[in-house]
Amino acid sequence: MEKYEKLEKIGEGTYGKVYKAKDKTTGTMVALKKTRLEMDEEGIPPTALREVSLLQLLSQSLYVVRLLTVEHVDASSDFSSTTSNKENIHSNTTTGSNNNNNNTKNKSNLYLVFEYLDTDLKKFIDSHRKGPNPGPLSPSLIQSFLFQLCKGVAHCHSHGVLHRDLKPQNLLLDKDKGILKIADLGLGRSFTVPLKSYTHEIVTLWYRAPEVLLGSTHYSTAVDIWSVGCIFAEMVRRQALFPGDSEFQQLLHIFRLLGTPTEQHWPGVTSLRDWHVYPQWEPQLLARAVPSLGPDGVDLLSKMLKYDPAERISAKAALDHPYFDTLDKSQY
Ligand SMILES: Nc1ncnc2c1ncn2[C@@H]1O[C@H](COP(=O)(O)OP(=O)(O)O)[C@@H](O)[C@H]1O
Ligand SMILES: [Mg+2]
Repeated sequence: MEKYEKLEKIGEGTYGKVYKAKDKTTGTMVALKKTRLEMDEEGIPPTALREVSLLQLLSQSLYVVRLLTVEHVDASSDFSSTTSNKENIHSNTTTGSNNNNNNTKNKSNLYLVFEYLDTDLKKFIDSHRKGPNPGPLSPSLIQSFLFQLCKGVAHCHSHGVLHRDLKPQNLLLDKDKGILKIADLGLGRSFTVPLKSYTHEIVTLWYRAPEVLLGSTHYSTAVDIWSVGCIFAEMVRRQALFPGDSEFQQLLHIFRLLGTPTEQHWPGVTSLRDWHVYPQWEPQLLARAVPSLGPDGVDLLSKMLKYDPAERISAKAALDHPYFDTLDKSQY
């Protein structure tokens, strides 16, 4: 890792720390993300290789954060296993450290090196809510960000990849250029999204589709569209649409706004693994939850928040929705 000058920690997410770093040869900023892909004498596991090449393929989209390279680091030169200042990294690589010889023996890690972007959508929305000059996001910016998000999601879906954890923290922004990129495409997410992160931080449920909350095991691309809908509403409101703090509360938030689902609107819902009997709520007017959004926006949002996953609009179809008619699509 001598190629990089480690700067500050920029994120602490589900699986580990993310650092801002400077590529010493080019002077460009990068984001370094340690993966959970540990290697032994057998080398890099084939599943890891497959996931990394998929990530590389997906990152060819302008709307997916670019994976620049992958560094294979053996434990003796892995700066993250040392304490956090440079002197320590230095003394470890020159003198060697004791702990290299015992429990970290033979272990090595893959670091993903991404292009660096200055902020994420969560921080951006927060700054519009409580920054020095709070105020709404402009309607044209919301439209542009949503279009880019749908483009990125459509790209992933066209390659058969679900993101499964779309949320504002996983959408990176280049504020000056007005660009939005999808990040945190799951390495190893092929299995499950954990409920707790490695720091025991609770993983947010706010963007999770109802079929996932109800224990459906046959996920489809529609789970990402639900998340996109929640993010769309949040950009408008500057506040989460469904801020549940448990899986049960999450469902109640959804049901209170959209009405308790029925077999009529969502065939099969009462046979899902975690279905219970819930209070019966009537659907509310969606427009009331997003008062500053025009009718085309509300129509698109309602199509993203359809209960029946089979009825939910696709990312590709969303790009052609009338909500985007006023957008200059030639820029994208
Ligand atoms: N390429 C990047 N440029 C700038 N910040 C980043 C970058 N990648 C990640 N981050 C920041 O680090 C946080 C965690 O990174 P992420 O890839 O989402 O990992 P995790 O799996 O830990 O959630 C993000 O929410 C974002 O704030
Ligand atoms: Mg993340």
